[in-house]
Amino acid sequence: MQFGVCWYPEQWPREDWSDDVALMRDIGFELVRIGEFAWSSYQPERDEFDWGWLDVAMDTIADAGMAAVLCTPTATPPVWLMNERPEILSVGPDGKRRAYGSRRHTCPTSVEYREEAALITSMLAERYGEHPAIDAWQVDNEIGNHDSARCWCDQCQEQFTGWLSRRYGSIETLNEKWGTAFWSQTYPDFASIRLPVPTLTSHNPSLELAHRQFASDQTIDFVKVQFEILQTRSELPVTTNFYNEDTAVDQRAAARLGGVASMDNYPDGPSDPIVTAYLLDLTRGAAGPQGEAWIMEQQPGPINWTETNPPVPPARVRVWMWQAALHGFDAQLFFRWRAARHGQEMYHSGLLRQDRSETAAVGEIRNTIGDILETDLTKPQPRVALLHDYTDSWAIEINPHRKGITHRSLQMGAYRAARRLGLEVAIVDPTSDLTEFDAVLAPALHITTPERISALTRALDAGGLVVLGPRSLVIDEHYAWSASPLPGGLATRLGARVSEHLSQPDPLSVDPWGTEAGVWTDVLEVSDAEVLARYSGDSYLDKSPAVVQRETLVYAGFSGEASWLALLADLFDLVAHPPGVEVFVRRDRKFTIDHGSFAIDDAHPMT
Ligand code: GAL
Ligand code: ZN
Repeated sequence: MQFGVCWYPEQWPREDWSDDVALMRDIGFELVRIGEFAWSSYQPERDEFDWGWLDVAMDTIADAGMAAVLCTPTATPPVWLMNERPEILSVGPDGKRRAYGSRRHTCPTSVEYREEAALITSMLAERYGEHPAIDAWQVDNEIGNHDSARCWCDQCQEQFTGWLSRRYGSIETLNEKWGTAFWSQTYPDFASIRLPVPTLTSHNPSLELAHRQFASDQTIDFVKVQFEILQTRSELPVTTNFYNEDTAVDQRAAARLGGVASMDNYPDGPSDPIVTAYLLDLTRGAAGPQGEAWIMEQQPGPINWTETNPPVPPARVRVWMWQAALHGFDAQLFFRWRAARHGQEMYHSGLLRQDRSETAAVGEIRNTIGDILETDLTKPQPRVALLHDYTDSWAIEINPHRKGITHRSLQMGAYRAARRLGLEVAIVDPTSDLTEFDAVLAPALHITTPERISALTRALDAGGLVVLGPRSLVIDEHYAWSASPLPGGLATRLGARVSEHLSQPDPLSVDPWGTEAGVWTDVLEVSDAEVLARYSGDSYLDKSPAVVQRETLVYAGFSGEASWLALLADLFDLVAHPPGVEVFVRRDRKFTIDHGSFAIDDAHPMT
């Protein structure tokens, strides 16, 4: 495990730099992340460069025996470039070009921007690829954040047309797969398919889903240009960091570009430690069992962008550090070194205050680095898989049937239950090899494809437990409802089918547990399966099957979290830990984190 910090020397007087870096080192940091918003500081005009300050900053890092994660600056293109090539600016659904002034205001498709990104990345690779400080590269920053993946410019329109024609081959095929006979939307040719701009009521969900997939693909292609340049010029790991509350860009696809899977961890964003655990496991899963997972930005104190930005009491940062370590991360870098005196994030804490004095977090971080490094932590080896894919989250977002239902909320039902029972969870792609797990949880597997069915079938054939949640395997990847009984592709194996998929105004209960069914309730019609639980309540659904099982395949029709806990407790024969407690087993040692009291394991009293 390595620790580090994000440093913006371009924003601070040079006379502070060497003392700053010495203090970083003294705290126990080895890594310094640098440069991701620094473009105008080293290229103030098209033909004017000032690399001197970055040379000095990099040398300062190297002289202190530390290593740099050098970032490409493409999340914040400079104003001169926007003036020179305004077609780089993205366009909103209203057809208006986005303004510069903040960040991420660029079109991922723009040929001009890809050219400029390649140019500046090549210069960085050239100048610093062999620098003694450099240890890894970060491409861009938080792709997809601020809803920046989707753009409605002419280039995106043109590329979307090409993307669709490559995907479908002929317009007849597209019309058939999208069912455009509905509302007389039959397209005469690919050029007639416009990006989904606002219209009187909703668009065909097939178009919406294709547009989200396209936007994710374009964004991955945008960073790929930079990955390839850095990978050909150096042997170092290359990564691009995600904020995992964003779902617009497929993080797994980015991780496949190579190197390291990385994320930014702001527990006060979701304000729920088990959601933070889920977001950590998402990146851990994107890295794969062998790959490295890094936290490029770790929260060090109060932040500035939530509704309330609450205090961060003593011992909480320590808990966040242990949580990331126990979820198998290889590096944690704090954002940011010193709180900003200028710009949009003045209320965001740093390790140092604006006046350069140390915050209380510094001592806490120093001690915790010592504690974690002294501990023999192996990687997690979960026996339980949770299936996750961005396409399901887009599909549910496009057509949730019920306000408040989200892919995340469905995922959290099963994930939270598993963690309460002390089960560690690998979050994996539904088409990966699932046979290595004892159990597979699929609480939000909305889309059915032959590849998914065959992965699940192999897991079942290998004797693994598979638990499907409500609305499983309903639509195909083009957003057409399954023509065979639900769950589409597995109803025969289940010996039951979903007869009704309902949105409940008044929650029902699930018996024998008496737990809340939640707002999505699928009712099952059984031909050859065991009924494990039934709905109960003042409704015509009273006593209807809610959960059925045939061999090791289980279908849970409810969406309520308490029902997930009751079901998994029965299936795994385990007893729940109190809420907010996470348990991990590493070698023979059991670690617990109590997120409520901030207690971590007896062996590590607060220092
Ligand atoms: C991240 C971003 C950082 C900073 C931080 C504030 O999303 O990458 O640049 O804005 O949030 O918490
Ligand atoms: Zn565009």
